[in-house]
Amino acid sequence: MKKIVIGCDHAAVDMKNTVREHLLSRGFEVADVGTYTSDSCNYPVFAHRACVKVQNGEADMGILICGTGIGMSLVANKHKGIRAACCSDTFSARLTRQHNDANFLCFGARVVGIGVALDLVDAFVDAEFEGGKHATRVDMITAVENGTFAE
Ligand code: RB5
Repeated sequence: MKKIVIGCDHAAVDMKNTVREHLLSRGFEVADVGTYTSDSCNYPVFAHRACVKVQNGEADMGILICGTGIGMSLVANKHKGIRAACCSDTFSARLTRQHNDANFLCFGARVVGIGVALDLVDAFVDAEFEGGKHATRVDMITAVENGTFAE
C-alpha cells in the first residue's frame, strides 16, 4: 500500500484533516507534516518537509494544500525529483499521474470544496504512470532539472 505524506498551511487545516481521515479509511499509510493549527504560517515550510519525505523514500507520494495550491506547487517543484501538479479537476489529477508521473498533488482549499478535494485525491492516488513515450518526456523533465537537457 502506498505511503502518502500530506501537508498544508493555515488556509487548509480542516481540509487536510479530512483528506488524512479519507486516506486512512482507504488503508493508506499517512504521514502528516502539519501545519496543525489555523495560526498563520509559511507554506514553504510544510511543502519542504513533505518533499524531503518523498525524496528520502519515507513516502511514495504527497498531497499539499494551501489557499490556492499554487504556492505549495511552486515550492515543491523546486525540489529535485519532485513533480507537483496543482489541479482543480479530476481529469488533470488522473492524467498527471498517468502521463507526467507526478508525485505530488496540490490544490487550494479556497478553490475547491471538500467533495471535489476528495475526488481529486482519489483520482491521483488510484492512477498509475503509463510509461512508454511518457517516460521519455519525464526523463526530459529530469534532464532540465539536472542541466543536461538537449533537444
Ligand atoms: C495564505 O494566505 C495563502 O497565500 C496561501 O495559502 C496560498 O494560497 C499560497 O499560494
